[in-house]
Amino acid sequence: MEYDLLELQDAMRKVLKPKRYLHSLGVQFTCASLAMRYECDIMKAQVAGILHDLAKYYDASEQISRCEQNNIPISDIERKQPYLLHGKLAACYAKSEYGIEDEEILQAMAYHTTGKPDMSKLEKIVFLADYIEPSRRMIPGLTEIRKLAFEDLDLAVYTTLKNTLNYLKSNGQTIDNTTIEAYEYYKDIVGNK
Ligand SMILES: [Fe+2]
Ligand SMILES: [Fe+2]
Repeated sequence: MEYDLLELQDAMRKVLKPKRYLHSLGVQFTCASLAMRYECDIMKAQVAGILHDLAKYYDASEQISRCEQNNIPISDIERKQPYLLHGKLAACYAKSEYGIEDEEILQAMAYHTTGKPDMSKLEKIVFLADYIEPSRRMIPGLTEIRKLAFEDLDLAVYTTLKNTLNYLKSNGQTIDNTTIEAYEYYKDIVGNK
């Protein structure tokens, strides 16, 4: 399938606030760079990157009602933290509103917030790009992960999951099971290398 990146960028510029649009462009370009490094489909990575946050601006109750309207299952944790749903909702609207049919792209968008065990290369790239893109505000460990992302994909994913869990714990936030499962999975992979 042909994708028109300029058209998708244009659409996102209208939908997103300026800072979120800049973030999305950053994710798009970082996805492209990582796709080059790890021999992944560069176009698919960019499409997932530019569109990944398209559902970010629905408020909590809207995230839930929109998921219900589209038959997207909602876990108990997602019900408590509806912002976790914006990835799945983005994948849903990417298909219905922007004509993206490619399941690999849609899955990578759906899991960009939580990660999950046994991610595809594209899923890992979008997950990481969201964390390391150039306009992300500086947080502890980010410089190392930015470097690591271009050296060892699984180790970078593992380190990102570890940092994310630590961050959520120190803020007393509810943690999605999928993120814990992903962390355990990549801890094993990294340990067995
Ligand atoms: Fe997001
Ligand atoms: Fe994002």
